[in-house]
Amino acid sequence: MKANLVVLPGDGIGPEVTSSAVRVLQSIAKRGGHQFTFTEHPIGGCSIEKHGAALTEETLQACLASDAVLLGAVGGPKWDNPNAPVRPEQGLLAIRKGLGLYANLRPVRSHPALLDSSPVKPDRLAGVDMIVVRELTGGLYFGEPKGRTRDQSGERAVDSMVYHDYEIVRIVELAFRLAKSRRKKVSSVDKANVLETSRLWRQIASEIAVRNPGVAIEHMLVDTAAMRLITSPAMFDVIVTENTFGDILTDEASVLAGSMGMLPSASLGEKGPGLYEPIHGSAPDIAGRGIANPVGSILSAAMLLRYSLGLEQEALAIETATDRAVTDGCRTADLAGKLTTLEMTDAIIDRLSAKV
Ligand code: IPM
Ligand code: MG
Repeated sequence: MKANLVVLPGDGIGPEVTSSAVRVLQSIAKRGGHQFTFTEHPIGGCSIEKHGAALTEETLQACLASDAVLLGAVGGPKWDNPNAPVRPEQGLLAIRKGLGLYANLRPVRSHPALLDSSPVKPDRLAGVDMIVVRELTGGLYFGEPKGRTRDQSGERAVDSMVYHDYEIVRIVELAFRLAKSRRKKVSSVDKANVLETSRLWRQIASEIAVRNPGVAIEHMLVDTAAMRLITSPAMFDVIVTENTFGDILTDEASVLAGSMGMLPSASLGEKGPGLYEPIHGSAPDIAGRGIANPVGSILSAAMLLRYSLGLEQEALAIETATDRAVTDGCRTADLAGKLTTLEMTDAIIDRLSAKV
């Protein structure tokens, strides 16, 4: 297979972890006789420095013309002022919107060898294997009106939570499709006791559940879900929720895996390229030191193979090799280990089976 992959390393540890993922992809390509080409483009803070914008038209066009996009992370102390007119995060939001990536898939599993790395008690963590399906192009992040006004009484700020029925239908249907190949349970998370958008969400989710009798649905309020993620995380299979709730719940869920550095994500649209990125940020405190955990980025590359290129065997090969490395005690500093980013990457490449 031939694939044209765009790499957006971004800021902080982004370049370090994406170069690890690229090495793993190159190794997979060699084993399977695939031809992957990689083209780098700027996004986030480094793009602001170079071009004055967090996402340039050139980067967006390159992504649109690609088969898939691998992203590192954006942001850093240099661009931390939330009132600045251009901010790195704008690049992330613009590329999600520009590529129509309405579905953000964030799988969270507890690895048996990492149960003690989480602050949550090990008996709660056994069997944790969930995927959070976060709506990514609607809700508070993009709703209008949005902005500030000033009148005699002072300053007023507004963000709008807006959802159209079709936005809910497509994301909940995707959650049901995923559940069918898993443990056949969807937890639809909302705040239907307060929010109108959530009442529409719950109504649509219930209708879709009726059409999918093989999958169990449970509706859960977001505050309850936040609690259950810690008290009984193994009860979840597929969680589907709106943008802001999903943002908050996935950071919380990442704690179950022992380190945020372990977690990948895939952002998918109706058609066109998907975007793959670790869920961690740019970690400016350790940037440039070569000690970042590359696993989140490497597992994102596995998701890229699975969802954008249809290379399931190759995706599994990376996931198995990563699992083995962790079982064998390979750890970076975030998990109290001594391996550098390069060494951890080598450990995973060494464990890729000879043929896929
Ligand atoms: C995430 C991040 C982003 C978000 C930020 C950086 C804009 O927190 O991908 O979860 O809120 O979506
Ligand atoms: Mg977040």
